[in-house]
Amino acid sequence: MTSTLISGISELWTLDPALDDPAHSGVADGQVRRDAALVIEDGRVAWTGPAAEAPSADTAEDLGGRAVLPGWVDSHSHLIFDGDRAAEFEARMAGQSYSAGGISVTTGATRSATDEHLRALVRGRIAEAVRGGTTCLETKTGYGLTVAEELRAAELASALVAAGELDEVTFLGAHLVPREYEGRAEDYVDLVTGEMLSVVAPHVRWIDVFCEEGAFDPAQSACVLRAGAVAGLGLRVHGHQLGRSGGVALAAELGAASVDHVNHLAPADVEALAATAARPTAPGTDPDRLAVDAGPTVATVLPACDLSTRAPLAPARELLDAGATVAIASNCNPGTSYTSSMSFCVTTAVLQMHLSLAEAVRAATRGGALALRRTDVGHLGVGARADLHVLDASAAIHLAYRPGMPLTHEVWRAGVRLT
Ligand code: NIG
Repeated sequence: MTSTLISGISELWTLDPALDDPAHSGVADGQVRRDAALVIEDGRVAWTGPAAEAPSADTAEDLGGRAVLPGWVDSHSHLIFDGDRAAEFEARMAGQSYSAGGISVTTGATRSATDEHLRALVRGRIAEAVRGGTTCLETKTGYGLTVAEELRAAELASALVAAGELDEVTFLGAHLVPREYEGRAEDYVDLVTGEMLSVVAPHVRWIDVFCEEGAFDPAQSACVLRAGAVAGLGLRVHGHQLGRSGGVALAAELGAASVDHVNHLAPADVEALAATAARPTAPGTDPDRLAVDAGPTVATVLPACDLSTRAPLAPARELLDAGATVAIASNCNPGTSYTSSMSFCVTTAVLQMHLSLAEAVRAATRGGALALRRTDVGHLGVGARADLHVLDASAAIHLAYRPGMPLTHEVWRAGVRLT
């Protein structure tokens, strides 16, 4: 067993779950330590405390008075694609509105990519995310939309999980009805819930559906989610991005781990999500994971997507005030949010969604971890995976105070320094 002592930490955001206090939507007493140190043993946090009381270790690093956060947990991305949609973006900035149809452009480009090229693209995007402080990353299929192409995407992603480069994979065959099924949406739902699900399920932990006008209606979405649950997958929903699609009620009713976007919410939607916050989680078979089918439906807001589509910002403040559990994610994809910068999302959540810095950091770490039903990431309590985001600043508030500045100094994943 090897140990590393990290000292010179001006602010250590452990966000230790053992110190949680439901009265705080940001951080509770003791979850941020000043003048702290941390010891890593075999890739896990073994000790945290005052620098003056730090034990010795095999190796040591002095951070020179920098703030340390848990690495970002990005619980929503679509990294498996080829091509970009810069022209669509430019047209949107000139006044056109976003519609689900653009997904078919990326589907065409992705189907044409060789395995090697696609894998290199995905690995490049993961590396970009890591350089921005992300250490736990979910990604989705959904730009293949045939049995063979969805399987190819799922296999590619699950191989990256096995290699320790990615963390979670979601099956999103129900992203859009592909052109070859135009006018035959029910047949496509049959394919997704039948042959496609059975070949993809062994490679993924989650199933998702784009429940929105132009994609899948609530009845079709329910069908997809129920089939996924029968196959043992956890549920995720894209909902209320373009309008009140019914995805929020569906996610809450079916016990989805997360409903993402949530831009258009009526008071009843906010209440429905808040009501799920009391649902207890349950242990999973793996000690680092919770059961996928118990616990709150996390409201995952996607600030970069809201800006890139000029959508009304998701009401994160209102959701937190109502008692809902909120996560922040990047939604990195070529159509609506071509960035994996979680720091940008956190900054936006503070400056424009009116979250405190503590609330935004928590949503981008612990919130994401809960949305993925993970206990080993999103915090730096003893036993956590040693995923460290070292800032080039003495205090985390600089993330919002110095928007857009390159504040990521070092990134560690499972006790290994990656940048
Ligand atoms: O989460 N909304 C659905 N899926 C993606 C966008 C996909 C695309 O337009 O290519 C999203 O925003």
